[in-house]
Amino acid sequence: MRISIIGCGYLGAVHAACMARLGHDVVGIDVDAAKVAQLSDGQAPFYEPDLDDLLTELENTGRLRFTTDMAAARGSEVHFICVGTPQKRGENGADLRYVDAAVEALAAYVSPGDVVAGKSTVPVGTAARLAEVITAAEPHATLVWNPEFLREGHAVADTLGPDRFVYGVPDGSEEHPAVAVLDRVYETPLATGTPRLVLDYATAELVKAAANSFLATKISFINAMAEVCEATGADVSRLADALGLDDRIGRKFLNAGIGFGGGCLPKDIRAFMARAGELGADQALSFLREVDAINMRRRIRVVELTRELCGGTLMGQRIAVLGAAFKPESDDVRDSPALSAAAQLQLQGAIVTVTDPQALANAAKRFPELPLEPDLEATLHKADAVLLLTEWKQYRDMDPHTVKALVSAPRILDGRNVLDPAKWRAAGWTYKGLGRP
Ligand code: UDX
Repeated sequence: MRISIIGCGYLGAVHAACMARLGHDVVGIDVDAAKVAQLSDGQAPFYEPDLDDLLTELENTGRLRFTTDMAAARGSEVHFICVGTPQKRGENGADLRYVDAAVEALAAYVSPGDVVAGKSTVPVGTAARLAEVITAAEPHATLVWNPEFLREGHAVADTLGPDRFVYGVPDGSEEHPAVAVLDRVYETPLATGTPRLVLDYATAELVKAAANSFLATKISFINAMAEVCEATGADVSRLADALGLDDRIGRKFLNAGIGFGGGCLPKDIRAFMARAGELGADQALSFLREVDAINMRRRIRVVELTRELCGGTLMGQRIAVLGAAFKPESDDVRDSPALSAAAQLQLQGAIVTVTDPQALANAAKRFPELPLEPDLEATLHKADAVLLLTEWKQYRDMDPHTVKALVSAPRILDGRNVLDPAKWRAAGWTYKGLGRP
C-alpha cells in the first residue's frame, strides 16, 4: 500500500520505518529539512535501538523516502498524523498547533477513499473536530483515530508487535470501510492474533490518555509506598515483589525510585486533567494531581538524601550523577528526573558532574550550565557521593570495589533501586535507596 506519514519525530520516524518493513511504500513528510536529510541518509535523528539497523536494511528497497513537500502525500491511500502534542507553555493543556497545521496542510492532497489516521496523543474531542476539516476538503475521505502505545527504547518492536490495535471510526462500527483499509496496513501483525478494537472517536482517544494515566498512577502508587517505607524502615522493593505476585496487580511498573519523566507520561496526565476540566469532569481526575505531586516529591527526596549522605551539606560536595536520559535505552531528556535532580543539587552548591552513554548532547541543550562528562570513570573520579539516577545496564553492573578505588568517599544513592545493597555495603559503601532501609 502507499502510505504517507506526516511528522517524522520520534513516533513518525519509527512508524515510517516499520510500515516500510511491513512491505508498504512509504513517504515520510516533515517541515524540518535537517531531519529529512538525516533520515534520507538512513540515519535516525535520535537514539533508538534497532532503528538505525532498520533504516539501513530499508535503504536499498526503495520503499522508504523522506521529504519536506506535503504534496508527496497525494496518491497515498493512508496518511498517518504523527506530529507532537507538547504541553502548552505555562499551562497544563496540550498544544495542538502542530496537529492542526498538519491536518490543514494535508487536507489539500487527500483523495476519495483515503484514510487519515491520527496517531498523536490528543485531548478527547480532537478527532471529531479534525474529521470536519478532512471531510470539508474531501467528503469521501475518512479520519480514523489510531493511537500508538510504543515505549521509547522498544519502539520498533512495539510498533511491529503491539499489544493491541485501536481504531476509532466515525460511527464506531466494525463495518465502516476504513476498518478494512487499516486491517490491510496492519495485516502482518494482525495475522499473529494481535487483538484489534473498533471504537468511536472519543473512546479511542481516551484509551491512550487512560493507559498513560494508569501507568503513571501505578508508579506513583509504589512511590507513595516508598515514602511510607522510609517512615517505617520497610523495604519498598520487597513490598513490590510481594504485591506483584497477585496477578490482579502484577509486578510491572512497580519499580519505586526517582519517578517517571519523558515526553509522554508527565504531559499526558496534565493534558488529561486540563481536558477533563474543560468538560466539567475535573473532579474525576483530581487524583492525577496527587500522582503528579508524588512524582515530583521523589526528585526533592533525592536531593535531601544526597545532602544526608554528604553529612548535612551539599556545599562544595563533588557529586557524580549517573544518567541524564529519562530512562535507559533512550537519549530523550524531556522532563528527565535525573537532570532535574542534578540541576537542583548544583543550585544548592554541589559540584555536579553528569554522565550518560547517549543523552549528553540533548542534556547540553536543555541544561547548558550542568557539567557533562562522557566518561564514567572521569565522572566518578574523587566523587564525594555517587547517584545512580537512570538505570543503564553499565551502571547496574558496576563493581563496588572498582568504583570505590575511584571515588573520594564510598557513598551511593541508588535512585532506581537496582543495586544489591548487601553487596555494596559489604564492599564498604554507605548505600541509600529510595524507600529502602
Ligand atoms: C510511555 C508508555 O509506556 C507508552 O505506552 C506510551 O506510548 C508513551 O509513554 P515511555 O515514555 O517511552 O512510554 O516510557 P515508559 O517505559 O513508560 O517509562 C516512563 C517513565 O516511568 C520513565 O521515566 C521510567 O523510568 C519510569 N518508570 C517506569 C518508573 O519509575 N518505574 C517503573 O516501574 C516503570
